[in-house]
Amino acid sequence: MRYHIKHTNPQKQRSNCLIVGIWAGQSLSPAAEQLDQASDGYLTRLLKRGDLTGDLGQTLLLQEMPKIAAERVLLVGCGKAEEFNAAAYRKMSMKVIAALKQTGAKEAVNYLTDLVVNDQDLHWKIRQAIQITSEALYVFDQFKSNKTNGKIVLNEMIFNVTDSRSIKQADRAVVEANAIVSGMQLTKNLGNLPANVCTPTYLAKQAQDLAKKYKSITAKILEKKDMEKMGMGALLAVARGSHQPPKLIVLHYNGAAKNKKPIALVGKGVTFDSGGISLKPAAAMEEMKFDMCGAATVLGTLLAMAELKLPINVVGVIPATENLPGGNATKPGDIVTTMSGQTVEIINTDAEGRLILADALTYTEKFQPEVVIDIATLTGAVIIALGTPASGLMSNDSHLVDALKKAGDASSDRVWQLPLWDDYQEQIDSNVADISNVGVGGGKVITAACFLARFTKKLHWAHLDVAGTAFLGGKDKQATGRPVPLLVQYLLDLAK
Ligand code: BES
Ligand code: MN
Ligand code: ZN
Repeated sequence: MRYHIKHTNPQKQRSNCLIVGIWAGQSLSPAAEQLDQASDGYLTRLLKRGDLTGDLGQTLLLQEMPKIAAERVLLVGCGKAEEFNAAAYRKMSMKVIAALKQTGAKEAVNYLTDLVVNDQDLHWKIRQAIQITSEALYVFDQFKSNKTNGKIVLNEMIFNVTDSRSIKQADRAVVEANAIVSGMQLTKNLGNLPANVCTPTYLAKQAQDLAKKYKSITAKILEKKDMEKMGMGALLAVARGSHQPPKLIVLHYNGAAKNKKPIALVGKGVTFDSGGISLKPAAAMEEMKFDMCGAATVLGTLLAMAELKLPINVVGVIPATENLPGGNATKPGDIVTTMSGQTVEIINTDAEGRLILADALTYTEKFQPEVVIDIATLTGAVIIALGTPASGLMSNDSHLVDALKKAGDASSDRVWQLPLWDDYQEQIDSNVADISNVGVGGGKVITAACFLARFTKKLHWAHLDVAGTAFLGGKDKQATGRPVPLLVQYLLDLAK
């Protein structure tokens, strides 16, 4: 899908389809007004007949409007102007692409950029429209005999800007959106792959492919013997039950001078989480192929960095392993020594994410990062707490919290902060080791983060629990590509 910016008159624009807005109460947007005048009041008469009230998300497709050069005009209800906020614009954009997909249009010119959205500018409108359009056109049919991909004919969308001075800002929005979309697509594709394909070795290969494709990216893969040398007892404990070798994937995006401290992104890469000896129930266990979505987010975000050529340094660290039961698997009650030297009693082998992240976070210290953000499908509890709208955010640095909240709001890929008070720490004390890998009592999202906090004392660190946001479960199970938009926005803000 290609996106462009133009400054044109709707009535004269040759196109397969123009997209214009109608407000509730049937008042016309600027582009609709122009079409109405050029067609001697055609739209006014049509609206009078009551075929479109202008309620949010309504659509009406017109063919060969009189005196209009375009083949089709898609009218879109925008609701009440005073209630037209970010959420309304996003909802409308979803309806637009759903309607457009039903037509034979190969190309469309979008005039919805002329609608005033409360608190949002042109740059935001274009970026959101592109992300939503690409989202709606995404299909994962690699394993289907009947491909749906070729059946979607739409391949170009042009956004109109009302004055030529806005073109530069609009072009920048297209560049950013394209990079975010490409990153999300990689993240989704990897997340959607079944675990028999997407193994730790496969993820490592993906990292190497990224490094081959982009000069600004380098990849290094650490093997089991390297982990043994570094004393990564927690990561190795999770990998023990599997025949697939674990990998520690290290990526560098080099966009700034070598001596500039990097931002570190650490992604949970459990390519399948059966729970291990603390075996999960069978229902929905197939969704645990998504337990590497944090890792996929790191890869997608680095791809976006390379596309945007941002003047910063980013290091990505991905501990990748399966979590399976096996004759050699870790048993409840086993005690292991982490790379940090702290010992952990593994009470429940299903709390494996925090184990592999503990060693990955300790390893990350060597890069002396400015900040570290880990991304992990860490707890089922965060789905209960926050559902799908927001990722859980916990951090030991209030500036980082503010920056991530701001980036989340700006990108509509939101986070919600949960406390990381010391009061919770005693819940993960063990009577035989330094730490237990599960917390007693409530607050399971927080006690999981408390565990990670014991390994990030030397770091400015934030933890994103994305179990509710990185994928959707159920019949239409699929990866969402989140939180790539959030992280790219955070890095864009930093690079400014
Ligand atoms: N990968 C799971 C968390 C998860 C659950 C992600 C559902 C997405 C959907 C994680 O490894 C896990 O099993 N967590 C346990 C921790 C518990 C044993 C303390 C959980 O949340 O139940
Ligand atoms: Mn688990
Ligand atoms: Zn897991």
